[in-house]
Amino acid sequence: MAAFTAMSPFGVEAEGIDLSQPLADAQFAELERAFYANHVLALRGQDLTARQFLAFARRLGPPQPHVIDQFHHPEDPDILVLSNVKENGRPTGLQDAGSYFHTDYSYLAVPARATTLYSRVVPKVGGDTLFADQQAAYDDLPAAMKRRIEPLLAIHHYGNRHDVDEASRTAASPLSAEQKAKMPLITHRVARPHPVTGRKALYAVSGSSFGIVGMPDDEARDLLNELAAHATQPKYQLRFRYGVGDVVVWDNAALLHSATLTDPQDARTLWRITVLEAAREAVAPQVLAPAFAGRPA
Ligand code: SIN
Repeated sequence: MAAFTAMSPFGVEAEGIDLSQPLADAQFAELERAFYANHVLALRGQDLTARQFLAFARRLGPPQPHVIDQFHHPEDPDILVLSNVKENGRPTGLQDAGSYFHTDYSYLAVPARATTLYSRVVPKVGGDTLFADQQAAYDDLPAAMKRRIEPLLAIHHYGNRHDVDEASRTAASPLSAEQKAKMPLITHRVARPHPVTGRKALYAVSGSSFGIVGMPDDEARDLLNELAAHATQPKYQLRFRYGVGDVVVWDNAALLHSATLTDPQDARTLWRITVLEAAREAVAPQVLAPAFAGRPA
């Protein structure tokens, strides 16, 4: 069985687990309980093939390949390569992915349950991932704000509402016209119960939320910005520092997260697999339009 060490202010490290070996059901159940209780689960110093990494991630849910298909791992499209390394002048992975607070796949009707990163090359300086606890942020809201946001549905699409300049390192990674055409405009509750534990959290109030159903745009942006400023305060944040071989798994229904900008010359490479919630667990998603075209600016 694993030994667990708490991180601060949340998150947990599990020791004594070798993910290159198949996990017994009891071992996996123990990890899964720790994951839902702590939002971030780290298993340090692993040595994995793509197939072994996938075998672990598939225990958490069905993987969903990222829309940016040019950086899928050559062995399996369920793995997205995140990297700033260039070979012969060509990028080997997606650089600066998610360098703003967001929730993975919150722009899909059935969003992400968990994301797992496997750290392959660690930069000399930085390269950390920040997490912000959205259950704690929700709990701390004044009662009047909880009542105000309870009925609200946020309108989501791929992108970062805080930075829509595609040339910027803190915008969402740009999509081709073909990739944009695959992206829906959908809604999720602003105060969203966790699909497994039922505990309420602020859901993706930073990143992909661009409006609120039935609310004038200015008012909706002001409210989302107020919630995002509250939800990303340092007191809700965990900074995760990688070593080579570290696997980290996070709960997208309970957290916002952000990559931190790294010197483009300081190599950083991770493999990423994102698994979806079960369709029956996704809480009140509503598809507003079939395609990205015509979305709010
Ligand atoms: C992501 O948002 O999936 C990337 C996080 C990171 O590279 O630190």
